Amino acid sequence: MHYGGDYYPEQWDPAIWREDIERMQEAGVTMVTVGVFAWARIQPREGEFDWRWLDEVLDLLHDAGIAVDLATATASPPPWATTAYPQMLPRDHEGVVYSPGSRQHYAPTSPDYRRLAADLVTVMAARYAQHPAVQMWHVNNEYGCHLHYDYSENAERAFRRWLEAKYRDIDTLNSAWGTVFWSQSFGSFDDVPLPRRAPYIHNPAAELDFRRFTSDALLELFVMERDILRDAGATQPITTNFMGAFPAADYWRWAQEVDIISDDTYPDPNDPAAYLDSAFTRDLMRSLRPGQPWLVMEQATEAANSRLTNAPKAPGQAEALSMQSVGRGADGILFFQWRQSRRGAEKFHSAMLPHAGTDTRIWREVVHLGETLRSLPELPAGPSGARIALVFRWDSWWASSSPDLPTIVDYERHVRTWHGAAQQLHLPVDLVRGDEDLSRYDLVIAPSLFLVDDRTAAALQRYVEAGGHLVVTAFSDVVDADCAFRDGGFTVALREVLGVETLEFGALVPAGGGHGPGLDAVTVRTPFGDLGGHTAAEVIRLRGAEVIGRFVDGREAGAPALTRHAFGDGHADYLATIPDAPAARAILESLSEHRAIAPLLEGEPVSFVDVSRRGDHVTIVNHGVTDVEVPISGTDISTGQPVTQVRLQPFEWAIIRTEGETR
Ligand code: GAL
Repeated sequence: MHYGGDYYPEQWDPAIWREDIERMQEAGVTMVTVGVFAWARIQPREGEFDWRWLDEVLDLLHDAGIAVDLATATASPPPWATTAYPQMLPRDHEGVVYSPGSRQHYAPTSPDYRRLAADLVTVMAARYAQHPAVQMWHVNNEYGCHLHYDYSENAERAFRRWLEAKYRDIDTLNSAWGTVFWSQSFGSFDDVPLPRRAPYIHNPAAELDFRRFTSDALLELFVMERDILRDAGATQPITTNFMGAFPAADYWRWAQEVDIISDDTYPDPNDPAAYLDSAFTRDLMRSLRPGQPWLVMEQATEAANSRLTNAPKAPGQAEALSMQSVGRGADGILFFQWRQSRRGAEKFHSAMLPHAGTDTRIWREVVHLGETLRSLPELPAGPSGARIALVFRWDSWWASSSPDLPTIVDYERHVRTWHGAAQQLHLPVDLVRGDEDLSRYDLVIAPSLFLVDDRTAAALQRYVEAGGHLVVTAFSDVVDADCAFRDGGFTVALREVLGVETLEFGALVPAGGGHGPGLDAVTVRTPFGDLGGHTAAEVIRLRGAEVIGRFVDGREAGAPALTRHAFGDGHADYLATIPDAPAARAILESLSEHRAIAPLLEGEPVSFVDVSRRGDHVTIVNHGVTDVEVPISGTDISTGQPVTQVRLQPFEWAIIRTEGETR
């Protein structure tokens, strides 16, 4: 179990380094990330490197038994670089150049940036690949975090080459994108524009490819640095820090390229339900590489400084959220940052060692968390015990974010709604792409899977045929991988499985518009209660499915809204609207009973209690503000005593070794 944080020795006098290391030892720090923003300090001028300070820092840390996650420092190019090569700066969609003076001011496709980054990493790798302190490599930092999309000329050139590699000839692209519409047919790849500011909306197929390209262009940077490190003989694991469900990078693809998943997490302490959002991103990280532990690379001990108001974490909350990550497979808890800065844009950001010093609540909590993590036994990496899978797909997210849809579909929020409902019922959930083997799940939910490619359709079909239970909701199976409608209407790829066909999308006005029932929200009557829906009330035609629920109000009052279709040995449900949180919960309750999926805790679900499983170890965290009592049988690993229930104060946690099922 690693413990530590980002360490910026370059911000401090060397005399402070020694004090830092003593304090790190006091706090039980085992690993620090060094060098994330040190490019200018390492390379003050092109061709000139100063490694002395970093040599000294690495040696000091090593002598103190503290491992280093060495960053490649490429996230913030130094001023000389942008002065000499201004064309490496990125642009926004209106063509405005982003200025240096902050960070991440580089176009990911810029040949100058790539060359300079490669030069730096080559020299760094040669110097430190064999350094005993270096236990991990941290490539760049939060790729794409501030600038999701770059519209520079470099990007345009690279996009064209990416398209050429994908489509080979321009007519294939013309046909896939449907460029005959609005007179957009291209004569050559060099005619293809970036989706910059235009008089009206862009071709959605072009937008979708631009997003795919951007994720790939960023990933190419990671792979470039990773390969330089490997070629220099580095054998340590190589990572880059993810950002949860980050919209601009398809982490399913990225997860194949890193050695270990690491993630940054900043839930808003002002939001009592934020623990559900972080449960979602923790489960996502765990699911990206099933069965392999991952790391929390960054989180705040107290307040961040990127929100309009930055609430502090309450006493004990940092530990509660850390244990939520541990319960979901994290084998390391690191913070941004070790010592609070005295100058610069993030000087108000909290740290393990606060500006106010060691006689502070934060420092005491940091020391306590170090002790806690040290005292944990080795935990099995998995399995999570999830019998429910939730499909989460970047390509579908991108396709359903375009501005030309019948209504605004908040895909990520929709997926979170299902995930949150399952967490409140203490039902563990894995995130899946939907095109893999799903046979180990009893229930697979595909919320608003707008884009369904052939491979995913085939996998979902196989899953149901073999006895699975699939739930699909409104705005699913609308377009294919090219963002085009399939022949034969909507819900074509999954029609055989679902036994329904969508005829109209029945857009509702956005919720909260005060338009009233039937216009901004609908009710679906089912044998297990009334369900609330929003965003759409689709008109569907039965193609073999039976009706379980009907719309009570709105344009479609009386028409089918929830259906079930027996297909092969399994069943597929279709919900012709987007459920609100109570509706998602009611459906999950009904289906988990039907499929005999037991929650991780016996009895009634307990509010604000988060439960997760790593093999036979169940982690329970109370994220609420009142004491709770939770029934669970096993051995409390903190006391070694058998228990049948645990009592937890606000932000308290327990890990119970159970003898239950561990699949
Ligand atoms: C992260 C970033 C860190 C720091 C932190 C502050 O997004 O990687 O460098 O800025 O946020 O919360």
